[in-house]
Amino acid sequence: MDKLEVTGGVPLAGRVRVSGAKNAALPLMAASILADGPLTLANVPRLGDLRTMGRLLRHMGGQADLHPPGPDGALAEEARLDLRSLTRPEAPHELVKTMRASALVLGPLLARHGQARVSLPGGCAIGVRPIDLHLKALALMGAEFDLTGGDVVGRAPAGGLRGAEIRFETVTVTGTENVMMAAVLARGRTVIANAAREPEVTDTALALQAMGARIAGLDTDELVIDGVDHLSGAAYRVMPDRIEAGTLLAAVALCGGRAVLLDAPCEEIAAARSKFAAAGVKLERAVVGGQEALTVESPGGRELKALDVVTSPHPGFPTDMQAQFMALATVARGVSLITETIFENRFMHVSELRRLGADIDLQGRTAVVKGVDRLRGAPLTASDLRASASLLLAALAAEGRSDLFRVYHLDRGYDRLDEKLNALGARIARVKDA
Ligand code: UD1
Repeated sequence: MDKLEVTGGVPLAGRVRVSGAKNAALPLMAASILADGPLTLANVPRLGDLRTMGRLLRHMGGQADLHPPGPDGALAEEARLDLRSLTRPEAPHELVKTMRASALVLGPLLARHGQARVSLPGGCAIGVRPIDLHLKALALMGAEFDLTGGDVVGRAPAGGLRGAEIRFETVTVTGTENVMMAAVLARGRTVIANAAREPEVTDTALALQAMGARIAGLDTDELVIDGVDHLSGAAYRVMPDRIEAGTLLAAVALCGGRAVLLDAPCEEIAAARSKFAAAGVKLERAVVGGQEALTVESPGGRELKALDVVTSPHPGFPTDMQAQFMALATVARGVSLITETIFENRFMHVSELRRLGADIDLQGRTAVVKGVDRLRGAPLTASDLRASASLLLAALAAEGRSDLFRVYHLDRGYDRLDEKLNALGARIARVKDA
């Protein structure tokens, strides 16, 4: 298991490119199951979860190759997905247990193959995270489910799934994607009310449209989908990762300095942008080499102002940025209130941040963070993906050396975040097999 040795206290400067979005690439890879031809995805980030999704698609009998786009190609990969040879419509436990998003194959399998066997995702570190809402919605489309040996075994009715009126009682991102992917090949019209509006849902819808799907209501909380008989292959570029962009911005905000993020999504991070502005971080939109870019300038650490954050579904403040903003709050001047409303157990970074000297009091769903004069390096253990990013950022702001263990959490969802931060001047050494 790798560990990261971080020497803190260095301001950041330079240029870095934002990778493609993990949470868009995952449903897009699953969407390949629906196509009658190859789906080629560009701008695919190099990270653990997408390798797992590739393994899952191959396990089912499909072809799923992830490889660099060529010698002059940037850092991203290209995914060539051809699932016409799919013979085993099942997602086994050993793959689902490492990645809950494996459940994203359920809707496509039922729509395209009429059956699916998907291991039920267990409790996961950041909360219960069931898939009951996915199952209820697919049942409204005619699917029947049994639970056998920890697997959800689903079957579409003879003649295939049918369109339905669905209203999610809670906004669910992968639930919306799963049902949308099922509906594009269902008979008749499906309406998904209280749909998630996350940009990755829209990106998935745009790719499905490129494959021939009929979906209206993009970017709203009501999606209207008219089923078609078949979908073709397509070529599609995955949107840039707004959470990675936000994490890099938070690193510069915390360490101080000036940097340019190339291919940065701007509209998609509006909620985080306004919080950065409130903390005293300057962000400006720019165009560099014809691409969207963001410049960030920050006085860093103690010069930041305290900030209040309440997570909520898009366009609200994303839960996937909560831990990184808590790292900012640990040294910002004043008292910050950080409230998590999406997941019930997403404060596991708190005890580790305290080891660096952070002053955090947990009051139910709210963390009360009093900015301290300085953090001091310490050994740290990552507990989940975004918590590991938070700890890395705090370690960069701390005096002296911190060792970050269980880096595989970070590598599951970030495309070499340590290398990107080092390109901005950070001092992070990766030690293999620690
Ligand atoms: C997705 C993202 C994840 C992000 C989360 C919230 C992917 C691959 N992952 O996760 O990074 O943190 O959205 O923005 O895109 N719920 C139920 N029953 C269900 C489904 C969800 O009770 O069937 C609850 C969850 O426990 C949670 C809330 O609904 O409290 C929202 O979860 P959801 O949006 O589904 O998260 P994911 O799609 O798993």
